[in-house]
Amino acid sequence: MQTEIVKITDQNKEEVLNRAADIIKNGDLVVFPTETVYGLGASVFDEKALSKIFIAKGRPSDNPLIVHISDKNQLKDLVKNITESQQKLMDKFWPGPLTIIFDKKENISDIVSGGLSTIAIRMPSNIFARELINLAGVPIAAPSANISGRPSGTTGEDIYKELDGKVDMIIEAGESKIGVESTVVKINEESVLILRPGAVTKEMLEETLHLPVIFAKEKNDLQSSPGTRYKHYAPKANLELVSKEEIFNKAESFKKEGLKIGIITTIQNNNSFKEYEPNVFILGDENNLEEISQKLYSALRFFDDKNVDIILCQNFKEEGIGVAIMDRLGRASAKKS
Ligand code: TXA
Ligand code: MG
Repeated sequence: MQTEIVKITDQNKEEVLNRAADIIKNGDLVVFPTETVYGLGASVFDEKALSKIFIAKGRPSDNPLIVHISDKNQLKDLVKNITESQQKLMDKFWPGPLTIIFDKKENISDIVSGGLSTIAIRMPSNIFARELINLAGVPIAAPSANISGRPSGTTGEDIYKELDGKVDMIIEAGESKIGVESTVVKINEESVLILRPGAVTKEMLEETLHLPVIFAKEKNDLQSSPGTRYKHYAPKANLELVSKEEIFNKAESFKKEGLKIGIITTIQNNNSFKEYEPNVFILGDENNLEEISQKLYSALRFFDDKNVDIILCQNFKEEGIGVAIMDRLGRASAKKS
């Protein structure tokens, strides 16, 4: 298959999005930008197209997809009912980086839900994404655009390197704004479970719902979000997380052993690592976690062709979006099986 990568601009957007919508209508795959990470999309109502997503990514079939809508009216074809709390979350955070789990309608394919009776839905704030959904005339099921187990793609160019020949079209719209995937939540009777942390934080959810908000990780409830069971976000070399204070000494001792080191750090630490260049990636200011999250996956991908033996990355504060950053880094550094 020939993969076309097209840079979208205000001038060509109508033509590009119409062509992309035709590809979706024809049952093929389009990589499109969202504010979190890029998505690998197909029509939610086309089983054959949905299976192509799993083949392109090498994704396990019990890992369900997120369905993207551009209008709340589309929910009537997807969900059985909407609770008061779900409504509040939609009103407050859509369009935006929050995925909500609903009870799914029977007609929704098991391929979308991974055999569960629920469906994950979000309305992206990226205007190109919403316009594409409008033009396609159907909700678009889309996991992150990457080979399963690898960091999510945050530029069209990165995705092209990985999915060339596996998708029909990639819409390049530059770097994703947020850089980590949406927060995924499930609302139970009296509490809210965060199945995956993201830019919509625990505090923001508590403030909106006045219910206890719990990270699924703490509750050992990961069964309800199958995707979190798998190896994830992994760069090619092993990744080790180290505190800001220890990263320099750790690097020096690995270097003495003759290892080639990659460093992921912040501007505060920049001067300490001159000797390690060009294998140093500066994420930004350690006090600006939004900046760190935006660059996170580019940093992990940066070392793919550098042939380093190990990547050392510094830890971040687990507050606000820092919880999502540390969640992804924790999984990316998990020992490979
Ligand atoms: O920001 C995002 O959410 C990006 C962009 C493209 O929208 N999408 C994304 O999709 O990250 P993916 O497939 O990489 O992650 C989907 C996550 C997985 O952890 C999956 O297990 C969970 O959502 N999920 C999907 N359906 C679910 C369901 N019915 N119940 C529980 N978890 C579900
Ligand atoms: Mg993913």
